[in-house]
Amino acid sequence: MTINVAPDWWKTLFDEVYLTTDARTVCNHELTCREIDIFCKLISINPDDSLLDFCGGHGRHSLELYRRGYKKCTVFDYSHTLLRVGAENAANLKCNIRFIQGDARNSQLEDEKYDHVMILGNSLGYVPDEKSDFSILSESFRVLRSKGRLLLDVTDGKSVRERLMPIAWHEIGDDVVVCRQREVNNNYIYAREMVLSKKDGLIRDKNYCIRIYEKNYLKELLGAAGFTDVNIFSQNSIAGINEADRGCMNHRLIITACKP
Ligand SMILES: C[S@@+](CC[C@H](N)C(=O)[O-])C[C@H]1O[C@@H](n2cnc3c(N)ncnc32)[C@H](O)[C@@H]1O
Repeated sequence: MTINVAPDWWKTLFDEVYLTTDARTVCNHELTCREIDIFCKLISINPDDSLLDFCGGHGRHSLELYRRGYKKCTVFDYSHTLLRVGAENAANLKCNIRFIQGDARNSQLEDEKYDHVMILGNSLGYVPDEKSDFSILSESFRVLRSKGRLLLDVTDGKSVRERLMPIAWHEIGDDVVVCRQREVNNNYIYAREMVLSKKDGLIRDKNYCIRIYEKNYLKELLGAAGFTDVNIFSQNSIAGINEADRGCMNHRLIITACKP
């Protein structure tokens, strides 16, 4: 393995640069609407239900859910920057959404408060140790009411293994180029990301890693966290990103599970 990663990389990567480098996915209203269409077909949400958008970044899913009439949304994330951007967007759109900062492994949220916990847009598997996923799923279980539902949307590990391109790059506007070198090692994608401005030079050069999941492992993990009725759906061609990035956000596993 050649790409080394600091254990706390995820505490600093999700900033304004990320909102540019990943804009094709996370600032793409059409894609967010398509995702919400898919999620809403898999779970039934009542307008009065309280929703926790766990590791929700700048709250793009909550904003769209709110727009569709689901008004009890809370976004929880570690990144101060994303939460600030989300709160500004929500204020501009007159959406009354709560934004809370914290670590999802130990969220300090109230017990049994939510009807739905949603971990969307591949937001599990950033803390590079196996115990953290279990902690985040156990927290999800704890804050759900009895009969509450978890919705989890992660990249399809099998597809990543088959399709990931070791080098991928794309341009943003006339100035910015994002280059990624990637490798799969055991159950993680390791990546080096260089972001360059043609005018001003290097913007960022950072390494990160993301856990990838297969169906059986997810079933075991969710069962160990207490969930029942685990259903896993494969969803292909969701992001519509070009071939260079296929295998990351194009092929997803969408999981529903229940707190008894
Ligand atoms: C790829 S982003 C996706 C954000 C959002 N769900 C979306 O689809 O736009 C992953 C998010 O997970 C958050 N995250 C990862 N691990 C976390 C943790 N342990 N506690 C809180 N947030 C976490 C990051 O801060 C980041 O905003």
